[in-house]
Parts: sequence; C-alpha cells; structure tokens
Amino acid sequence: MLDRTRLRIAMQKSGRLSDESRELFARCGIKINLQEQRLIAFAENMPIDILRVRDDDIPGLVMDGVVDLGIIGENVLEEELLSRRAQGEDPRYITLRRLDFGGCRLSIAMPLDAEYQGPQSLQNSRIATSYPHLLKRYLDEQKVRFKSCLLNGSVEVAPRAGLSDAICDLVSTGATLEANGLREVDVIYRSKATLIQRDGEMSDEKQQLINKMLTRMQGVIQARE
Ligand code: PRP
Ligand code: ZN
Ligand code: MG
Repeated sequence: MLDRTRLRIAMQKSGRLSDESRELFARCGIKINLQEQRLIAFAENMPIDILRVRDDDIPGLVMDGVVDLGIIGENVLEEELLSRRAQGEDPRYITLRRLDFGGCRLSIAMPLDAEYQGPQSLQNSRIATSYPHLLKRYLDEQKVRFKSCLLNGSVEVAPRAGLSDAICDLVSTGATLEANGLREVDVIYRSKATLIQRDGEMSDEKQQLINKMLTRMQGVIQARE
C-alpha cells in the first residue's frame, strides 16, 4: 500500500493531457521520473506520488477520495458528475484552478452529405458518443428525442459502420472528423483542463504542499500568458 501521508495526484497516462500535465509538474519544480510502463511514479524531491490512469477514471478517483488531486478535462468531469447524480449520488470535489491547456469542444458531427438545420434535424436519430449525459442534457433542453449508442473510443467510425446517424465527441483540431468524412454541426460544451481536489479533511502538511504547488502554478501560467 502507498503511504497516505504523501500527496497523491492522478494524471492521464497517455493522451491529450498527459504531456502538458507532465510539463506543468516539471515547471512547478516537482521532479518525477516517469517510466512508460510504471503506473505509479514518485517525486524525488517532494512527498508526492503520481498515479497514471485513464483520463475517464480521474474524476471518480477524486470524488471517491482515492487521490487528493487530479488533472482532468472539464468535459470528463462534468460527464462523471451527471452520471453519478443520475445514480442518486451527491458527488463532491473542489476546483482548484482552471489550467491553460487541453482546450477542446464536445460537438455533434454528421456525415458530410447529411442535412442539418439545427438540433431538430436530430429528432429520432441515433447518436454515438462517450458522453451520454452531456448529450442528453443538451438535447433534452432542445426537446429532441434521440437514442444514444455508447462507444468508449473511435466514436467517429459509427456512422459509416451503420451504428448511428450522428456522433457526439470531442473535437480539438478537427482532423479526426475530417479523416472520417464527418462535419461538425453543433458545439454543445467547451472544455479545458482543470485541477481538482477531493472534498474533506486534508492534513496541514498536504494542504501546505498544495498551496505551494498552486502558487508555483500561478507563476507558470502567468508567464505563459
Ligand atoms: C479525442 C476525440 C477524438 C480526438 C479529436 O480523443 O475522442 O478522437 O480527440 O481530436 P482532433 O479534433 O484533434 O482530431 P481523446 O484525446 O480525448 O482521447 P480518448 O478519447 O482516448 O480519451
Ligand atoms: Zn478518455
Ligand atoms: Mg477519442
């Protein structure tokens, strides 16, 4: 078992947020020796352990108090929040600061030749997504009935595979959509990376370390602006 007196931070193992999360730690003076296959990394110069996990698991790990801090996209955080609330939970966490990377949008996209004249065009359609709760919240507001098909990755393949009429997935550069013959028709959520903390008691030592990290982050982010 890991030493619970050390600050435990979850970051994405590999993907859009991992390089910049890593760089942020480095710029904050946290020396971590990350080895590709090792899922737990220890800071050499501070009492900090890094858990390298799938991004989708980070909000839950913070809400369940398994880790003290997590770096995560707001889209994934919001989806987990809606999902837990739908199951009758009251998930808690604290937002420490919005970060200056990981910008993307959650969008609805359709095949190039499909007609789109606003959300009503999606009436009774099938939409593939990894974000069913965010999609439902948006389309419920628009009074659009639809059926969602859950895919945890490669969502862009769904229309051509005959699984769905449209998709709802993250868009950053738009290259994935383009490569798969899809066009973005509506943006439903704009997101950036954010640093969150678990709710509840924190030892003075950990809280001081968090405050020190936040001060350094403030400097790093200001310098980049
Ligand atoms: C997102 C999304 C697309 C891709 C879009 O995946 O699911 O596949 O990025 O980026 P583009 O517009 O620049 O082509 P993400 O990096 O979040 O990985 P994950 O789905 O495995 O978590
Ligand atoms: Zn993911
Ligand atoms: Mg993806």
